[in-house]
Amino acid sequence: MIAAEHLTKIFNADTSKQVCAVEKASFMVMPGEIFGLLGPNGAGKTTLLRMLGAILTPTSGYCSVDGIRTDEKPEQARRRIGFLSGNTRLYKRLRAREVLQYFGRLYGMEEARIAERIATLAAMLEAEAVLDRRCDALSTGETQKVSIARALLHEPQVLILDEPTLGLDIMTSRTILDFIRNAKERGHTIIFSTHTMTEAELLCDRIGLIHKGRILADGKKQQIYEQTGTGNLQDAFLAMVEGDILL
Ligand SMILES: Nc1ncnc2c1ncn2[C@@H]1O[C@H](COP(=O)(O)OP(=O)(O)O)[C@@H](O)[C@H]1O
Ligand SMILES: [Mg+2]
Repeated sequence: MIAAEHLTKIFNADTSKQVCAVEKASFMVMPGEIFGLLGPNGAGKTTLLRMLGAILTPTSGYCSVDGIRTDEKPEQARRRIGFLSGNTRLYKRLRAREVLQYFGRLYGMEEARIAERIATLAAMLEAEAVLDRRCDALSTGETQKVSIARALLHEPQVLILDEPTLGLDIMTSRTILDFIRNAKERGHTIIFSTHTMTEAELLCDRIGLIHKGRILADGKKQQIYEQTGTGNLQDAFLAMVEGDILL
């Protein structure tokens, strides 16, 4: 459902401040899978997800979503994607429901469908009480829930979530992680980034470990443990970074 082929992003390519944020990342995410991109700050997670989401153009390599190349048909690809970025902003003066209605109309959805989707998503995210409050009065967790609802309003098959639980309290994180798990059960394909090992361990079918722009390994947890001779992701990650093991 998601395929990356030698995806590379070099920022400031023609200057002395050149940064290779992602280097030749290749991997696939199968339909109905949760793929976790795990790596420390600055590893290249956001850059990689933005390329997959058809928001950022790769320097080289390419990716596709549901067989659609993001470089060739970005609009078609985006229609299949719900993208939650770390810095999604809501319109402060609007109520949460109004923001969602606004985006529903942008997606070209019918009013009845918009109302239905808002109700469904708010229930799943335990955010009903938030809907009629102004966005500038929402907490970080409440804002995140509305942002997730916004990204998913048009029922995309593929969810790309950049650190969806960053900075949230345990209760809100739990709701969002449950929501991701349920989305898988409803048939969505999900890729999300995190720097929390336990989160990745709990939720993902497969994990990609990313460090300094390179995917050091990708596979089921058990495969990663076996390849590194470890029993948890933290040790596996350290073993790879220190031993510079490339699989
Ligand atoms: N727009 C940009 N211009 C220049 N460098 C960038 C830009 N965005 C990200 N980077 C750099 O690319 C690297 C990867 O960043 P990022 O993808 O945000 O990592 P992560 O999300 O894993 O923290 C970092 O070194 C970062 O400073
Ligand atoms: Mg990031």
